Amino acid sequence: MELNDTIAPIERPADEAAGAPPRKVFLKTYGCQMNVYDSQRMADALAADGYQPTEAIEDADLVLLNTCHIREKAAEKVYSELGRIRQLKADRAAEGRETLVGVAGCVAQAEGDEILRRAPVVDLVIGPQTYHRLPQVVRKARAGEKVVETEYAIEDKFDHLPALREKAVRSRGVTAFLTVQEGCDKFCTFCVVPYTRGSEVSRPVAQIVAEAQRLAEAGVREVTLLGQNVNAWHGEGPDGAEWGLGQLLFRLAEIPGIARLRYTTSHPRDMDDALIAAHRDLPSLMPYLHLPVQSGSDAILKAMNRKHTAADYLRLVDRIRAVRPDIAMSGDFIVGFPGETDEDFEATMQIIRDVSYAQAFSFKYSPRPGTPGADLAFHIDEDVKDERLQRLQALLGEQQKAFAASLVGTQMDLLIEKPGRNTGQRVGRSPWLQPVIVDEKAGEIGDIIKVRITKAGTNSLFSEPV
Ligand code: 5AD
Ligand code: SF4
Repeated sequence: MELNDTIAPIERPADEAAGAPPRKVFLKTYGCQMNVYDSQRMADALAADGYQPTEAIEDADLVLLNTCHIREKAAEKVYSELGRIRQLKADRAAEGRETLVGVAGCVAQAEGDEILRRAPVVDLVIGPQTYHRLPQVVRKARAGEKVVETEYAIEDKFDHLPALREKAVRSRGVTAFLTVQEGCDKFCTFCVVPYTRGSEVSRPVAQIVAEAQRLAEAGVREVTLLGQNVNAWHGEGPDGAEWGLGQLLFRLAEIPGIARLRYTTSHPRDMDDALIAAHRDLPSLMPYLHLPVQSGSDAILKAMNRKHTAADYLRLVDRIRAVRPDIAMSGDFIVGFPGETDEDFEATMQIIRDVSYAQAFSFKYSPRPGTPGADLAFHIDEDVKDERLQRLQALLGEQQKAFAASLVGTQMDLLIEKPGRNTGQRVGRSPWLQPVIVDEKAGEIGDIIKVRITKAGTNSLFSEPV
């Protein structure tokens, strides 16, 4: 498919034809890796339309906020950011320069028209499922129209991706994200994703394989498959059989050049046998698994509608560790969900001790309007949440440090990714996703080399080539 099949050609305005300076876009990204990936796609789509990225918001003809709805008071933070942008727009207008302001991402999807009502500075609102229409939306906004684009047809969701990949590939390094799935049908009672990102949709196998091949040809060595609920991915294999993520990983591992595969984020309910077998049989599937449990208390897990118990989760981790003993576990935790007692919280501390995490993300519960959790009784005091979060993070921090320390003296493969912050150094990734520093003479960017870990720092490991 060529670019113009999905993105209508844009008529170039007269000022561009006359050699006026190119328009600039300032893109601010909040939240998850999915948003980072989407921002890249948006920048690519806009580049095709003559917009160059800028880091300086005051130079931007288009300011685009790619928002996240997961964090506390997300929408309010966007509105206060828009307040600051209003001043900027006024200052530029005083100099005769026009500024378009756009809101994208999950807050755009959730708030829709409301954004235009509350923040008249905004010219366009675009939801994550309609990014393929971004150039047209910007064009309309430039013509003076206020545009809200959040409605979509399911079939539309991934159509635009192959069209954008040529450009996307060029700007990437040796690692890349590849979206294979979007949306979520799990409806955890704290979470907005099923409402903002819609129901689960999987990209077809052929599209994913083709994009992975392009990435490999462009020099990408490590591909991380992305999805809000990535292990719910399913599709029809070339043999006509129903495939899950496990089968897909086996197929992607055959692509020459791709040395490392990862995926994120997973739900415990969707870890099927084929996916566990992939962890056993695929050397290129890295020994790292982000598998959120959220809580260690069955009562809270039930109230969260997680559809699994603490024992289910522990059994699953045992099964995975039985086939891949060196796997590093990562998780998400919420403290202070409505009704969480001291005993419930202690159960979360216990599951953390039982699993031992190499990496983790932890949050205080904060109610999201429109989710069932927000309507529950017995909300927990902020002080209690603070104290629980502190204790939980102290424990997770110790585990993370212990994991890094356990690697000192061991040998591992390192994928060299980019120059280090200090001259003469390069930074790569361990199989367990930690940044590892090595002398630049050890190898070129894109090489996978053997190193021995000499020291564990706070955020990275130091190494010497073997
Ligand atoms: N409050 C606190 N944390 C939340 N998360 C999602 N929604 C909320 C909420 N309302 C956390 C979960 C999820 C991660 C991406 O963000 O732990 O796994
Ligand atoms: Fe949200 Fe993840 Fe639960 Fe889906 S599985 S509702 S994305 S927390």
